[in-house]
Amino acid sequence: MYPEKVKIVEVGPRDGLQNEKGRIALEDKVALVQNLADAGLRMVETGSFVSPKWVPQMADSKAVFEAISRQSGVTYSALTPNLKGFEAALQAGADEVAIFGAASESFTQKNINCSIAESLERFAPVMDAAKANNLRVRGYVSCVLGCPYEGEISAAKVAEVSDKLLQMGCYEISLGDTIGVGTPVKTAHMLDVVSQYVPNEQLAVHFHDTYGQALANILIALQQGISVIDSAVAGLGGCPYAKGASGNVATEDVVYMLHGMGIETGIDLDKLIQAGERITSKLGRSTNSKVANALAG
Ligand code: HMG
Ligand code: MG
Repeated sequence: MYPEKVKIVEVGPRDGLQNEKGRIALEDKVALVQNLADAGLRMVETGSFVSPKWVPQMADSKAVFEAISRQSGVTYSALTPNLKGFEAALQAGADEVAIFGAASESFTQKNINCSIAESLERFAPVMDAAKANNLRVRGYVSCVLGCPYEGEISAAKVAEVSDKLLQMGCYEISLGDTIGVGTPVKTAHMLDVVSQYVPNEQLAVHFHDTYGQALANILIALQQGISVIDSAVAGLGGCPYAKGASGNVATEDVVYMLHGMGIETGIDLDKLIQAGERITSKLGRSTNSKVANALAG
């Protein structure tokens, strides 16, 4: 009924930090990426090649990529909204890139300044360039269970955009509950509809935990045969263009739940908690992870 192994995509260095207002030192970003790899994460979203005017916190992603010491077997990925972003990511040495669309017209407009149709046009040359350079491309679909501007989003729309990204050549589609409004039965319905277009093996889930629903929704995803989960250490995160979006589900909480269910992740929970403690102390805030709090030494 449940997968034996789950792959966690750690989005802390990107989604976790992109919305932080204060300056975060380059060395702290680099240490976070390295500590996550040391804890056993094999997929670390390390930065974002977007406009520095839109997301100032990610302006030093190139420097982060250049400064990290890489571990073999770890994929260091980056967000790339257009060809300019892709070229910068390639130059910086990203192992993999992600394009990011949404199932909501208004959110797409606010987040990347274009319509859904235009976003797909901008992604096409990214796909071509990625293929030419042998880089895999992940596709995000935001607002899969609700939009901060439009409210309800139909599962059919989520399926349509997911299918388009898959057809364009993305190897995996990550379904984002950007503002964390989803509840389990709604999640099950949305996944049922999307999986008619995208096989479960190519789906991932990306829950923000604004309403405390993320673990319940992840359990539903696992029951439906999905085995890739996005999360951020210490529950950091939020999208600057999604009002009310709070942090991602905490990686520590996901790992604790999975290990408790006998599901392998390859992650050392103690090291992960230490990685979370280091970055939250640098940010001057407490963790959003219940597990990290419970196990605090
Ligand atoms: P635009 O203004 O329409 O772009 O922005 P443009 O092509 O007209 O260019 C305007 C300026 O931006 C120009 O510079 C370009 O050179 C520059 P200027 O001449 O004014 O000096 N520019 C760039 N600079 C660096 N890197 C680039 C780039 N492209 C253009 N790649 C654009 C369009 C997409 C660039 C902008 O809207 C943008 O950067 N948006 C990013 C928003 C973002 O990063 N949001 C957060 C990530 S998504 C998320 O968090 C959701 C997710 O976690 C899943 C979930 O939770 O649901 C993934
Ligand atoms: Mg997100």
